[in-house]
Amino acid sequence: TVGNSSNIVWHKCSVEKSDRQELLNQKGCVIWITGLSGSGKSTLACALSRALHARGKLTYILDGDNCRHGLNRDLSFKAEDRAENIRRIGEVAKLFADAGVICIASLISPFRKERDACRGLLPEGDFIEVYMDVPLQVCEARDPKGLYELARAGKIKGFTGVDDPYEPPLNSEIVLQQREGICDSPCVLAETVISYLERKGYLE
Ligand code: PPS
Repeated sequence: TVGNSSNIVWHKCSVEKSDRQELLNQKGCVIWITGLSGSGKSTLACALSRALHARGKLTYILDGDNCRHGLNRDLSFKAEDRAENIRRIGEVAKLFADAGVICIASLISPFRKERDACRGLLPEGDFIEVYMDVPLQVCEARDPKGLYELARAGKIKGFTGVDDPYEPPLNSEIVLQQREGICDSPCVLAETVISYLERKGYLE
């Protein structure tokens, strides 16, 4: 049984992932960037995409905010909708990786269980979790969209880190730690991820 129906079969095509990867001369994978609002997820995703693109690698960004304009426009920020947001982006990321693309997912994804479920969708090693380890105070001081201020004023309810939970990853492949006054540039952070990809044979 697949999903909620027993009348569904899987169609296989003779053009496979390996063929697509060969065509593109790259390995599909998912780089999953998680962290609080204002921790720099989207900025890193963009710097990473730019750097990989310059090396001739095809990338695609699935940004939480952006996906909420389309694919996930029906979802709110209550827990079950956040879980569904993560699940859908995980499934789409899996499809991109299967297409041979280096897919960069950047969304808060506050729940460990759902992030780990997304990891479980990918072959071993192809899900690379990047934790933006930035203290709440630093994110709040940045407040690029003014959302923390609204949350503190009670004008946004259930804001991650303020009055909604964030479960930090326990076993991320990459932890990018930033502290007050000690913040690397997006390019430097992107290079850390790229070095990891090189070490693991994703950029041959
Ligand atoms: S989640 O938790 O993964 O479903 O969130 P995500 O899809 O990444 O969306 C987060 C962006 O939505 C804005 N926003 C909020 N964030 C957290 N909590 C609440 N209640 C909320 N309401 C709106 C905010 O701009 C987030 O963007 P980022 O890029 O993370 O700052």
